[in-house]
Formats: sequence, structure tokens, C-alpha cells
Amino acid sequence: MTEPASPIQSWDPDRYARNARFVADLGMPVVELLDPAPGERILDLGCGDGALTVKFVEMGCEVVGVDGSAEQIEAARALGLDARVADGQDLHFEAEFDAVFSNAALHWMRRDPDAVIRGVVRALKPGGRFVGEMGGSGNVGAIRAALEAALIRRDIDPAPLCPWYFPTPEDYKTRLEAAGLVVDRIELIPRPTPLPTRMADWLDTFGESYLSGVPEADRAAVKEEVSAALAPALRDAETGQWTADYVRLRFSARLPE
Ligand code: BEZ
Repeated sequence: MTEPASPIQSWDPDRYARNARFVADLGMPVVELLDPAPGERILDLGCGDGALTVKFVEMGCEVVGVDGSAEQIEAARALGLDARVADGQDLHFEAEFDAVFSNAALHWMRRDPDAVIRGVVRALKPGGRFVGEMGGSGNVGAIRAALEAALIRRDIDPAPLCPWYFPTPEDYKTRLEAAGLVVDRIELIPRPTPLPTRMADWLDTFGESYLSGVPEADRAAVKEEVSAALAPALRDAETGQWTADYVRLRFSARLPE
């Protein structure tokens, strides 16, 4: 999901489909954790191009998808979904959903995670569930370290360019409880993730904010440098397969009746 206050991040649906289809493909365990019943009304927060949102429709649910990216919402609407452009940090739903679901989106809403959770709580009916997965503490640690080191070598401060919020379970649980939710489960899950394309493509798709801080003429060199630094740990020397060092934070919470 687009984070308005963060540096540049764009969501070209074609590029996303090429380099990031795995994000939705790997989201099914979160759908299973939510365990939606036919007829339930569900909000998919950060629905992207709707690849997972359609699963809820197939399960007989009534679904609304929201995302900050107009391009992604257009792609979701092309699937016939009720999809709306909205800032996850400023949701305006009132006690109308049985559940709020979110896969691989909450970490982009870094400006105000508490506002996100407050909006979710407002959106839920009493007893409603909030089930999601996001990048957790240590997520893409090696990639991030290599990227930040490449910027620092160029005297560019990476801190303001970081677009991600990767909390610890303790941090996120505290925020969920402060908003009135009961947390049934929250855990970090290391999930080394094979990439469909090269590390340079991952950096283009997910690291755009960092790269935006580098003069355009130097971006290819940064991607080369970062790829070279990561290859010994994240690239299979025989097959050339890249694997990203993902760590998920998965949780299930609910509003009291
Ligand atoms: C993730 O889905 O965990 C992720 C997304 C963007 C950058 C890094 C990780």
C-alpha cells in the first residue's frame, strides 16, 4: 500500500505482476488463519491488485478492498472487485465488517501504525477479527543492510528514505491491545522467499524509495553493488536462484463482543 508521507514508491501493476506475484501466492496461510465464513463482510486492507481479495469472493464473502495506489485499485476493479482508493492511516468505516484482513501491506503504512489500528477497530463490528501478516523485525535484514551501506558510501543518509515499518511482536501486540483488541496469536515467522527474478528487479520493485535518493545515473551501479554484496548469501551459485531473507509477523486479534 502506498504510504503518502514516505519517499517515492510506485505500484506499476505489470512490474508488480512480474516481480512480486509471490506476495499474494504466499498469503494463503493468512487467509486460512482468518478462516472466513460464507456471507461474512470483509475489509482487505492494502488489497493491491486484488489477487488475494478474489479468494474471499470465491469463498462466498462480501469483500471491500482498499489500497493507497490508484493503479493497483484499477487492476483490482478489473477483476470485478469492490475496490477503493484509501489511505490505510485514515480509514472511514464504522462497525460494518466481520473481519479486517491484511497481507504484506501494513509495513508500508509507516507514518502512523496506531492510526491504522484505530481505523481497523472503528471498521469492525463487536466481536470482529483483525488478522494479518506483514514484514516483522529483521525482515530483509541482509538486503536492507547492503542497500543502506551502498547509500552511505555515497554520503546519502538512508534513514529518511526507509519506507518500511517492521515491528517486533511485542511492539505490535502493545499497539493492538492499546486500541482495545484482544490478541490471540502473534509471532515472527522466518520465511526465506525464492524470487521469480533477479535481486536488481526486487530492488526496483520494493526498494524504489531508497533508490530515489540516488542520482538516476548511479542507480544501476547501486543495484550491481548490492547484488554483488548479497550474492554469496542469497544467490544459489549453481542455479542463479535468488532468495530474499523475509521474516513475517503474523497475528490474529479480535474486538470483544
Ligand atoms: C515484505 O512483504 O515483507 C516486504 C515488502 C517490501 C519490502 C520488503 C519486504
